[in-house]
Amino acid sequence: MRGFFLCHFMTASSLFMVSSGGCLNVELLIYGLWPPAMLQAIPLAGPGFDIGIDEANQELSDILRIKRTYISGPEVVGCEDTGAYFDQISRHYYGYTEQQNDSLLILVYLGCGDSTIFGQLAREWNILAISGGASYPDQRDMVLYPTALATGPFQFELYSTMFEKVCEAFNWSRVGLAYDTSGAIPFPTEIYDAFSSSGSVRSGKLQLQRFPIPPEANHKTILQKISQAARDARFNNHSSAVILVALEAFGSLIQMITCFDHDPEAHRLLKGRIRRKASEMYGYRYAPDREPSEFATSSYLITKMLASVVNDSFQRGLDISNGRLLAHQFLNTTYTAGPIGRLFIDSFGERQSKICLSPFNHSRGRFTRALYCDHTETTLQRVPNTVIVWNTPGNRPPRDTPLCGFLGEGESCRKSSITPVIIVMAILILIFTSFLCYLRQRFSQQGLLRNCWWRLETPEIKHKPG
Ligand SMILES: *[C@@H]1O[C@H](CO)[C@@H](O)[C@H](O)[C@H]1NC(C)=O
Ligand SMILES: *[C@@H]1O[C@H](CO)[C@@H](O)[C@H](O)[C@H]1NC(C)=O
Ligand SMILES: *[C@@H]1O[C@H](CO)[C@@H](O)[C@H](O)[C@H]1NC(C)=O
Ligand SMILES: *[C@@H]1O[C@H](CO)[C@@H](O)[C@H](O)[C@H]1NC(C)=O
Ligand SMILES: *[C@@H]1O[C@H](CO)[C@@H](O)[C@H](O)[C@H]1NC(C)=O
Ligand SMILES: *[C@@H]1O[C@H](CO)[C@@H](O)[C@H](O)[C@H]1NC(C)=O
Repeated sequence: MRGFFLCHFMTASSLFMVSSGGCLNVELLIYGLWPPAMLQAIPLAGPGFDIGIDEANQELSDILRIKRTYISGPEVVGCEDTGAYFDQISRHYYGYTEQQNDSLLILVYLGCGDSTIFGQLAREWNILAISGGASYPDQRDMVLYPTALATGPFQFELYSTMFEKVCEAFNWSRVGLAYDTSGAIPFPTEIYDAFSSSGSVRSGKLQLQRFPIPPEANHKTILQKISQAARDARFNNHSSAVILVALEAFGSLIQMITCFDHDPEAHRLLKGRIRRKASEMYGYRYAPDREPSEFATSSYLITKMLASVVNDSFQRGLDISNGRLLAHQFLNTTYTAGPIGRLFIDSFGERQSKICLSPFNHSRGRFTRALYCDHTETTLQRVPNTVIVWNTPGNRPPRDTPLCGFLGEGESCRKSSITPVIIVMAILILIFTSFLCYLRQRFSQQGLLRNCWWRLETPEIKHKPG
C-alpha cells in the first residue's frame, strides 16, 4: 500500500486541485442503500469500487489518488428511501466544499431507477454524477442532465432495438407479449413500454398484443390462447414451472437477455476478490451458492474507466473540475478492461450492453447464445457455428401467419385433409438473474434464492428437474 500515494509534480497547466503531494485527489461520494436486500446495495456493489480503486491507485500512483466515502444510513432501507434522503448528499457536498476543496468530487448513486433529482443536483454543482443502479431512460438527456452518466449493467433501451431486429430477421409482424400480473415482478410493464416504443410498433408495421397472465392462471390454457392469436409468445414469468410448460408447448424456446463478455476465469477471480472484500470490509457473507452480481462487476468497471478518463483528461490539460466537460469525455466511448470485458457509454451518457438471443439447448440443459445485437453493428449478428432448432419442417423460423390462417381458413388447408401443423415458438425474456432479483424489494434471503433459481450456469440447476 505504501507506494501508492507517492505522486509527483504535474505539468503547470494541470495544477488545479493538485494537492501538496503533487497528486490529483479524486473523491467518490457514493450514495445508496445499505441493507443488502438488493443487488446494488452498498455491501454488495461496494467491493467493486474498492477493487477498482486499489488497482487504479496502483496503476496511476504518480498521477492520482482515489478515495471513496459512503453516504448512507440505517434510514436508507428501500428504493423509496433513496429518493427521500437526497439532502444527505447536499449536506456532504457542502461540508466538503467548505472544508477541503482540493479533491475532484464525483457523485455516485446506487439507487433504483435514475432519480432526476440526482442529475439536477450534479448539474447545479457542475460535477460528474454516475448512476450505477438500475438504468431507466429518464436521464437520457444531456441537455437536462449534462453531467450525469448511467452505468448500471441493465438498460431497456437496447431491448426495444433488439425486439425490432429479431422480428425483422424472422419476418414476424404479429407478436404477443404474455406477462405475469401477480405483482411480484414489476418488470413486464417496462418491457412492454420498451417494445411498444420501437419505431416499427409505433408505425403499425409490427402489431404487439398484450396477454396479461392472471396470478392464478393455468399456463397451458394461456399458451393455447396465445398460439391462436400470435406466432410468437414472450413470457415474463420466470418460474421453472412456466419454462417446463413452455418447453412442452412450444417447439423452440429462446431467451432474450443482456449478456456480458467476460473471460470466465478472470471473471471468476474478480468475483472471488469481491466476495472476500464484502466479507472483510462490509461484514457481508455470500451464501455458498450465491455470487457477486453484475452490479459489483459494474462498480469495478466504472471505477477503472473513470480513472482512465480522468488521467487522460488531466494529462491533456482539460479543466476536469468542469463536470459538463468531464462527463462529455465519456460519451460514445468504450473502455476495455481486458478479460473483464468492455463498457460502452453512448452519446446520451447511458451504458449500452449486448443483448443476446439464446435458444434453449436440450442436451446441455441451458440457453446458449445464437444471435446478438450491440452498439457496434446495425444488424443482428450471428454467433458462428450455432443453429436455432425451431422444430419446424425444414427448420425454418415459424411463419408470421399459420399455414391455415389463425382460424384454419387458409387456402392451402381447405385443399388438403392433413391436419395443420401448429407451429409455435416462444421467446422467454429472462433478464439477467440479478436484474430480477434487484426488482424484488426487501425480500428474505430465502425468497431471493427462490427467485433467482435460474442461475443456469450453476450445476445445481442442471440436475434439478423443477
Ligand atoms: C476553495 O475554497 C476557498 C475558500 O472557500 C475558495 O476561495 C477557493 O476558490 C476554493 N477553491 C476551489 C478550487 O474551489
Ligand atoms: C423474410 O422475407 C423475405 C422476403 O419476403 C425473404 O427473402 C426472407 O428469406 C424471409 N426470411 C426468413 C427468415 O424467412
Ligand atoms: C409464475 O408461474 C407460476 C406457475 O404457474 C406461479 O406459481 C407464479 O405465481 C407465477 N408468478 C411468478 C412471479 O413467479
Ligand atoms: C494516462 O494518460 C496519459 C495521457 O493520455 C497516457 O499516456 C498514459 O498512458 C495514461 N496512463 C495510464 C496508466 O493509463
Ligand atoms: C456519438 O456517435 C453518434 C454516431 O456515431 C453521433 O451521431 C453523435 O454525434 C456522437 N455523439 C457525441 C457526443 O460524440
Ligand atoms: C447443444 O449442445 C451440444 C453440446 O454442447 C452441442 O453439441 C449441440 O450442437 C448444441 N445444439 C445446438 C442446436 O446448438
